Amino acid sequence: MFVAFEGGEGAGKSTQVRRLLDWLGLHEIPARVTHEPGGTAPGVRIRALLLDPATGDLSPRAEALLYAADRAQHVHAVVRPALDVGEVVVTDRYVDSSLAYQGAGRTLAVEEVRRLSAWATGGLVPALTVLLDLPPATGLQRARGRGAADRLEAESLDFHERVRATFLELAAAEPERYLVLDATLPADEIAAAVRDRVAALLPGRVA
Ligand code: TYD
Repeated sequence: MFVAFEGGEGAGKSTQVRRLLDWLGLHEIPARVTHEPGGTAPGVRIRALLLDPATGDLSPRAEALLYAADRAQHVHAVVRPALDVGEVVVTDRYVDSSLAYQGAGRTLAVEEVRRLSAWATGGLVPALTVLLDLPPATGLQRARGRGAADRLEAESLDFHERVRATFLELAAAEPERYLVLDATLPADEIAAAVRDRVAALLPGRVA
């Protein structure tokens, strides 16, 4: 089973991804955590290019292609092989990040970005996407507490508002495949909601 976590800056995705992995481990369900961009060795290099402010201006299409290249490598080298041996794969960011950031954020046509990502992944879609939703002003404040802003974090509040709105639209269009949670809730409450939904997708495997 393939699960993705999505959300804006400072939404607490990495904490929740780790908590889900711990819980799956407790139930002896083979699972792995991974992330984009940079979930593979070549991806680490693509990530550096994408996030380093020293990269300067990248055209929106060039940026979208680099995220897609990172994703293609990630699916090929990490996600597919793990799914093929029956592991649960939990990724911190996936296709929806490109739809939100490169589509609505950079204002490329969302459907074009979707086609690009679908080609990159060979059409691999998560069974569940958990969207950790929070106001960008709150998230950016949290993220900036962690150090200097990267190329995307440094974008305007308006950019991040469009990103948030797009994540919510994607979730609303396919409610059966999404779990939308208020990322300002206590981490324990969020983790419990995620566990309930994932347990429902693993019938008979968690007590
Ligand atoms: P990430 O490492 O997940 O940082 P964060 O701590 O903010 O979650 O992601 C790095 C940045 O890359 C983040 O600002 C979102 C952006 N991004 C895109 O713009 N498009 C994409 O397809 C992905 C996967 C990430």
